Amino acid sequence: LVGSLVSIAAMLGVAGNVLAAEPLSPSDLRKTALEHFEVIPSMVPAVKGNAVTREKVELGKMLFFDPRLSASALISCNTCHNLGMGGDDNLETSIGHGWQKGPRNAPTVLNAVFNEAQFWDGRAEDLKAQAKGPVQAGVEMASTPERVVEVLKSMGDYVQKFVHAFPGESDPVTFDNMAKAIEAFEATLITPASRFDQFLEGNDAILTKTEMAGLELFIDTGCASCHNGVNVGGTGYYPFGVVEQPGAEILPPGDKGRFAVTQTATDDYVFRAGPLRNIELTAPYFHSGKVWDLEQAVAIMGSSQLGAELDNSQIKAITAFLMTLTGEAPRVEYPILPVSSKTTPKPAA
Ligand code: HEM
Ligand code: HEM
Repeated sequence: LVGSLVSIAAMLGVAGNVLAAEPLSPSDLRKTALEHFEVIPSMVPAVKGNAVTREKVELGKMLFFDPRLSASALISCNTCHNLGMGGDDNLETSIGHGWQKGPRNAPTVLNAVFNEAQFWDGRAEDLKAQAKGPVQAGVEMASTPERVVEVLKSMGDYVQKFVHAFPGESDPVTFDNMAKAIEAFEATLITPASRFDQFLEGNDAILTKTEMAGLELFIDTGCASCHNGVNVGGTGYYPFGVVEQPGAEILPPGDKGRFAVTQTATDDYVFRAGPLRNIELTAPYFHSGKVWDLEQAVAIMGSSQLGAELDNSQIKAITAFLMTLTGEAPRVEYPILPVSSKTTPKPAA
């Protein structure tokens, strides 16, 4: 066991002595940090196979906020990904159709465009594929592609918007185009200019000593080997419990994560390393949503992923660093939605 711990520690690049006597200077720390992380773009990124046009974004915003995409006409994307609350619902696990409790915690849609795969288990490859899931999921919006198209075609204003957003298409009101428009809108949901980004861009004075110590620890203890890149996570898959599996109250045995996607034994309890931008806003934590306190989440990561019992001051410093990842929230003006017509399907129970 000790041997395997040592090799895992080596794999993760865990430093022997995590509390360096002398902290790095801000410029050395920045240099090291830039080997692991990227400044978040302040411009809307390009999306593969889906040009982000003004018309698509406007339509996608309406769809994101329109509860008539759900069978009950009560639940919109924004119900569980509330853009006024960090892009999630701040619930342990989401409440969907018929007040059903879903199996997992809702991740934020903010910066989701930068994740390499969507969902805790990565089962959707991009936001377009993703957006078709919740509309049809029985525990979320409980609708069908046919019903959604019927709803959208029943309102002349929507038909017009689809015609403008998908020029040249003979029948633009489709389930696929709904997903494309939502994906284009989601690409605009980015949060630039966090204090962390300002530090990466050269501002030495923007982080406190504790926050810089936290960043250094985040790198040196090995957190950054799984949580890296532009979203400080959201790229790779790892067992939850590389070194020590957390208890059943945090890691419920019924949800085996990526195993359900790949049916490979080595993917038992494998999940995507969560993207950590705006983590301050998105409690409770982990796919089970069982941990409300960010300091506790950090301590659990230390023992489960690194086999390191972080002491109180280390936990506080790392948490302080994580709070610097909160960026500028996108300003979203609430859309005025087309009024239902006589032919719009009535809300279903
Ligand atoms: C996951 C968008 C509706 C609950 C996600 C993700 C995105 C997203 C982008 C992946 C984020 C990530 O992996 O980092 C949308 C859109 C919706 C919608 C565009 C409307 C069409 C809903 C609703 C609920 C919900 C109504 C709650 C009833 C969840 C949950 C997950 C999730 C629980 C995680 C599921 C898992 O990992 O297995 N959503 N969502 N979403 N969303 Fe939504
Ligand atoms: C989740 C922080 C090390 C893999 C998380 C979350 C936080 C976090 C706050 C919750 C994200 C959320 O709920 O949205 C840290 C810190 C670390 C660390 C501070 C260092 C002490 C690691 C390492 C790995 C890893 C080394 C990979 C071996 C994961 C995975 C999840 C996760 C797979 C998702 C767990 C789940 O809910 O299923 N991390 N992490 N983390 N982290 Fe880490």
